[in-house]
Amino acid sequence: MNLTIGAVILAAGEGKRLKLNAPKPLAPCLDKKLIDFPIRELKKFFSQNHLQGKMTAVIGHQKEMVQSYIEKNYGDIAFALQEKQLGTADALRSYFNSSNETLNYDYTLVICADTPVVSFNELTSMMTLLQNENLDAVAATFKVENPTGYGRIIRGNLGFHIIEEKDATEEERKITEVNSGLYIFKTAYVHQHLKSIDSNNKSNEFYLTDVFKIGFNVKAQCFLNSELFLGVNTLKQLEAVEFALRERKKNELRDAGVRFIDSQHCYIDSEVEVGEGSVIYPNTYITGQSKIGKNVVIEMGAQISHSIVEDNAKVLAYTILESAHLRLKATAGPFARLRPGADIGAEAKIGNFVEIKKSVLDKGVKVSHLSYVGDAFIGEETNIGCGFITCNFDGAHKHITRIGKNCFIGSDSQTIAPVEIGDDCFVASSSTITKSMPSGSFAISRTAQVTKEQMAHRFIKKK
Ligand code: UD1
Ligand code: CA
Repeated sequence: MNLTIGAVILAAGEGKRLKLNAPKPLAPCLDKKLIDFPIRELKKFFSQNHLQGKMTAVIGHQKEMVQSYIEKNYGDIAFALQEKQLGTADALRSYFNSSNETLNYDYTLVICADTPVVSFNELTSMMTLLQNENLDAVAATFKVENPTGYGRIIRGNLGFHIIEEKDATEEERKITEVNSGLYIFKTAYVHQHLKSIDSNNKSNEFYLTDVFKIGFNVKAQCFLNSELFLGVNTLKQLEAVEFALRERKKNELRDAGVRFIDSQHCYIDSEVEVGEGSVIYPNTYITGQSKIGKNVVIEMGAQISHSIVEDNAKVLAYTILESAHLRLKATAGPFARLRPGADIGAEAKIGNFVEIKKSVLDKGVKVSHLSYVGDAFIGEETNIGCGFITCNFDGAHKHITRIGKNCFIGSDSQTIAPVEIGDDCFVASSSTITKSMPSGSFAISRTAQVTKEQMAHRFIKKK
């Protein structure tokens, strides 16, 4: 029998303390938004456990912005509107009121939009406990040295209950086991008990935590790693959460055979892939959907975003790759900049102070020093001398430069696009190429040298 789950993401709160110009679910977190994390983990949880079901976001504060972000990025998430933020129980009521379908799922899972470190592993482990012991509900809890702000867990022989900070006595406040806000319920159970929840408490809120009681068939599952449930209410907590997510990523990569020289100072986004045997130096940023192959070297100061670096390639110090592709055994840097659309062929070499934009360089091409290559195609094994420029822009339009294979382009040359140079061509140093060259041709375009003996003194100025 396939189990079904309705997963509810609580995202109606305001998040005032973040002082960001955005609703809390859309606060930046690594290269994503806070809300992307629970959504991604829920998707993994569903697929790995072969669960059927649906995700619903409860929205309220700045709902249009939150909804349009989710709709733009995910096709399959429903919305429930909570008009006023009257508390977490009220938020779940809004969910059940949003559609009759919500009652059909065997289980109802509740997760907050602002706890991005929780992973599908915890969800799976809660689900297993719930099923193995045929419980009505499981809440994830953890222990902290300073429990301020959290609901405290009061355990009975059977069941438990949660007392919120504001309503707790001096003694109860000393309890260090706290509520994470993550729950899985049997749908019938939570729907039934929601009905009787009132707001007779210090906050005058409807507390979802009141569905747990001592004597009920419910369990608090205490997780040892409290970092998992870090919530984001302040910018300091946001930084802590990003730190934790990056650490987790680096640990995964290290376990998979990636060597860090000093991982403390590497910033790697959660979707980045890095192959076994690769070495990453300090002060590096690897972001977006970047894919780094095996045995790649990424030296200090490198910034790689949304790029592909194939096996055995080298990204040398202070090199920037933005939506670029560095193929097998190619080298870029030090101090190179590969801009969007730079596609560097296998074994090619891009040297210092070279900028490449929207250009395809075939296997073995060398552009070793101080050059700009834009909107160009360069054939296999062509060698581009120092200080070469594709003049690709006429002030209004960009034009294409084609250079064939096995060419030698002398230093300090320019090509005025559109222009085409065939295979096996030779461009003499300091030439400006304005006309296309057939394969095998030689071109030179510089004025002949004039040398006048004994004349230098006329030009050398002395004080
Ligand atoms: C809640 C728990 C507390 C737990 C803590 C963990 C209750 C009563 N208390 O407290 O036991 O230790 O989380 O972080 O649930 N939200 C809505 N609508 C509302 C109120 C909240 O959607 O009317 C959303 C918020 O956007 C947030 C989540 O629910 O994502 C939790 O709400 P929050 O106000 O942060 O609850 P806490 O007071 O922290
Ligand atoms: Ca909270």
